[in-house]
Amino acid sequence: MEPKCVFAVYFSPAGSTKAVTERIAGTLAEAFKSERKTIDFTLPGAREQKYVFGPQDLVVFGTPTYAGRVPNKALPFVQTLFSGSRTPAVAVVTFGNRSYDSSLSELRNELLNDGLVPLAAAAFSCRHVFSEKIAAGRPDAEDLKEMDSFAQSAAKKIEAVDQSSTTEPVSVKNDAPVEPYYVPKKEDGTPAKFLKAIPKVDLSKCDHCLECVRVCPMGTIDPTDIEKMTGPCIKCQACILKCHTRARYFDNPDFLSHVAMLEKNFTRRASNDFFL
Ligand SMILES: Cc1cc2nc3c(=O)[nH]c(=O)nc-3n(C[C@H](O)[C@H](O)[C@H](O)COP(=O)(O)O)c2cc1C
Repeated sequence: MEPKCVFAVYFSPAGSTKAVTERIAGTLAEAFKSERKTIDFTLPGAREQKYVFGPQDLVVFGTPTYAGRVPNKALPFVQTLFSGSRTPAVAVVTFGNRSYDSSLSELRNELLNDGLVPLAAAAFSCRHVFSEKIAAGRPDAEDLKEMDSFAQSAAKKIEAVDQSSTTEPVSVKNDAPVEPYYVPKKEDGTPAKFLKAIPKVDLSKCDHCLECVRVCPMGTIDPTDIEKMTGPCIKCQACILKCHTRARYFDNPDFLSHVAMLEKNFTRRASNDFFL
């Protein structure tokens, strides 16, 4: 088949998943000389409508890995906002150089449930949002080359698909079952409990630009009192990384110990994975 429109669809609080998904969608759109569109469902405003894809579309769908899975607060959006009619898809996850564990298998399965048919899938190691010391600078030139080559192989596979017959979805890790969520560890190997931690504000640095309010994917930061959270914090780091005065930070001891553990054990170059 020759798709008429390639969609880049993603949840990407800190921007790596956006970069990877857009790159792959761009290469595919070029290969098919097709139209290209973006659906960024990171912020609440984009989640007030549903998105329907036809058989002539191609969807490149990206999410980050949180605790080895699709982020649990983003999962309901993946499950309810999108529907296809045997629409070909490419499943993409990013991960912060530790492991993507089951996130790609889970995303593949959820896209299938939505009526999309994942024909290719890939996991890319990117800078860990918790630390600039983990996979710093990734995706780098080598990653971009791998992304382009993966997208070109995916284009060849999609082109050869005959939509009148049933097409088998791509198998990820031999269709191994999705594992339970990864439990973050502290430096001493015991569980790090930072579910309730929230980002603090150094008010002496804050100039009240409210960028943190605008970039929070959960819409959780109270604009009238930015130290207050009105809902869940998913620890995505968007408010911290996008604060131009660097006024936001986490000081939760378990969180900091988990980051130290990651910095100690996961700085080797993790490889990207491809399934076609
Ligand atoms: C709450 C949370 C949990 C994470 N869990 C994992 C993980 O299990 N394995 C991993 O390698 N990276 C993990 N990461 C790192 C992200 O997957 C990685 O930085 C990703 O590229 C961020 O995507 P974004 O820039 O699109 O937001 C986690 C990040 C967050 C915020």
